Amino acid sequence: ALISLRQLLDHAAENGYGVPAFNVNNLEQMRAIMEAADATDSPVIVQASAGARSYAGAPFLRHLILAAIEEWPHIPVVMHQDHGTSPAVCQRSIQLGFSSVMMDGSLKEDGKTPADYDYNVQVTQTAVAMAHACGVSVEGELGVLGSLETGEAGEEDGVGAEGKLSHDQLLTDPEEAAQFVKATNVDALAIACGTSHGAYKFSRPPTGDILAIDRIKEIHKRIPTTHLVMHGSSSVPQEWLKVINEFGGEIPETYGVPVEQIAEGIKHGVRKVNIDTDLRLASTGAVRRHLAQNTSNFDPRKFLKASTDAMFDICKARYEAFGCAGQA
Ligand code: G3H
Ligand code: 13P
Ligand code: NA
Ligand code: ZN
Repeated sequence: ALISLRQLLDHAAENGYGVPAFNVNNLEQMRAIMEAADATDSPVIVQASAGARSYAGAPFLRHLILAAIEEWPHIPVVMHQDHGTSPAVCQRSIQLGFSSVMMDGSLKEDGKTPADYDYNVQVTQTAVAMAHACGVSVEGELGVLGSLETGEAGEEDGVGAEGKLSHDQLLTDPEEAAQFVKATNVDALAIACGTSHGAYKFSRPPTGDILAIDRIKEIHKRIPTTHLVMHGSSSVPQEWLKVINEFGGEIPETYGVPVEQIAEGIKHGVRKVNIDTDLRLASTGAVRRHLAQNTSNFDPRKFLKASTDAMFDICKARYEAFGCAGQA
């Protein structure tokens, strides 16, 4: 069944768990996410980016999610729009039937230039007024995402600030978060706490304080009923990097956010955990390996099945690690 983000995350808060929000672009990702949710009895958040809409086309994307709800009617599903760059983008998603939208007013409409606080409040208020009138939830974002190690915003095209960021920009201010929530009435708030988008988050194996856990605690204390969202939460599985590179890929050494650190964040108010890169890496590794080992195969269903299976394993592991299993 389709439910709103507010409904799901209120339940997650009451029961102390977090929910992975997986990006979806194609059939294989959708099936992996749902089959893993079914296997673990987990509720689901699927999110579509602007890039996903231009890849699959809005009608296909919409029906892909609706088809999942039809095939697995017993699983609660939030249909979320990731990184909306304007109220107009959010409006279009509401028309399409999404039950949740992200108004990312931390960046200007180009999705690159950091925006000031007043701009952010203004566009987010507009999106909330529209969405709440339709029973749709809203995620806002305050602060600019970037690695505390490198000061880089990350690699995703179209999402993320450009250039080096100062330490101050890299952490959401708790006082400002309280003001922002009061002014906008968002249901969920994406915060900057040391994560960044894409595969290149950390250049060395993460030990200890990759995330600003104290900052997460402080923010949660100020806005206890607003659900915290952590973007850039891929763990960059080293085993998949190895497979990719073993079968012809060339991906340099890189590290993501350890699952245990995400679980620590969940203890302190993080409820929605955005993951895209991990499924991309698993899918790429599985396809490279399958084609290298089955050189006479030309049935795409065979390598796409390998992709689905690899993504299934990641999804299942995240549902379990975030305490989401058994909560559907
Ligand atoms: O936040 C970014 C997500 O990973 C989506 O990436 O815009 O390439 O679809 P995309
Ligand atoms: P990753 O690149 O770490 O998977 O983050 C995805 C994300 O935050 C989508 O909004
Ligand atoms: Na989002
Ligand atoms: Zn994001």
